[in-house]
Amino acid sequence: MTPAEQSLKAAEICRLAPVVPVLVINDLAHAAPLARALVAGGLPALEVTLRTACALDAIRAMSEVPGGVVGAGTLLTAADVKAAKAAGAKFGVSAGATDRIIAACEDEGLPLLPGAATASEIMALFEKGYTVQKFFPAEQAGGAAYLKSIGAPLPQVMFCPTGGISLKIAPDYLALKTILCVGGSWVAPSDALANGEWATVTALALEASRLKRA
Ligand code: 3PG
Repeated sequence: MTPAEQSLKAAEICRLAPVVPVLVINDLAHAAPLARALVAGGLPALEVTLRTACALDAIRAMSEVPGGVVGAGTLLTAADVKAAKAAGAKFGVSAGATDRIIAACEDEGLPLLPGAATASEIMALFEKGYTVQKFFPAEQAGGAAYLKSIGAPLPQVMFCPTGGISLKIAPDYLALKTILCVGGSWVAPSDALANGEWATVTALALEASRLKRA
C-alpha cells in the first residue's frame, strides 16, 4: 500500500469523528467495554497505545466491537507494524516516522498516520506521498497558532494534531481547514477505566463527538 493510498485511508478514518481517543489500556478486561463506550458516544476511530503489556490483545478484543475502527500507536519498529497488523489494527500512528516504519507499512498494507512537527518533517513526508499526518506533540510544539502558520504555505497536508489537547482547546484546532480531527486521551481518563465507569466515558465521548469541524 503506497503512502498516498495509506493517506487516503487515514483521511477516511480521521473523518469519522472530530476526536480520535488515545487509549492507554493496562487491563485487558477494560478493552471491549471501553471500545463499546466510546463507539456508543460517537467516537468510532480508536488509537490503542502500544505502551502497555496487553495493548496487542486489547486491539484484538476491541476489533470485535461493532462500529469500532481500531488502530495502534506509537509504532516504533517494523516489528510493531507487523504485530499491530496481525492483531487486527486498521491503521497505525507514530510520533514521528522512519524509513523502516514506512517500508513496513507499505509491505504490510497498514495505513500510517506518520508524525511530524516541523516544516521540513512535514515536507519530507509529503514528498513520500503522505498528505495526512499527525502533528505531535501538538500543544508543546506550538499549538493551533503554529499549525495555522504551517498550513498557509503547505495547504495540501491535512493533520490530526495530538498531544496536550483537551475538550476546551480542541475547537482552536478544529477551526482550521487543514485539521481532519484531533487526538486526545481526555475522553478515557484512567480512573474511569479503573472503576469501570463506562457511562462516564460515553458522556465524555458524546461531548467530544459534538465538536464542530471547519
Ligand atoms: C499520547 O499520550 O501519546 C498522546 O500525546 C495523547 O495524549 P494526551 O492527549 O494526554 O496528550
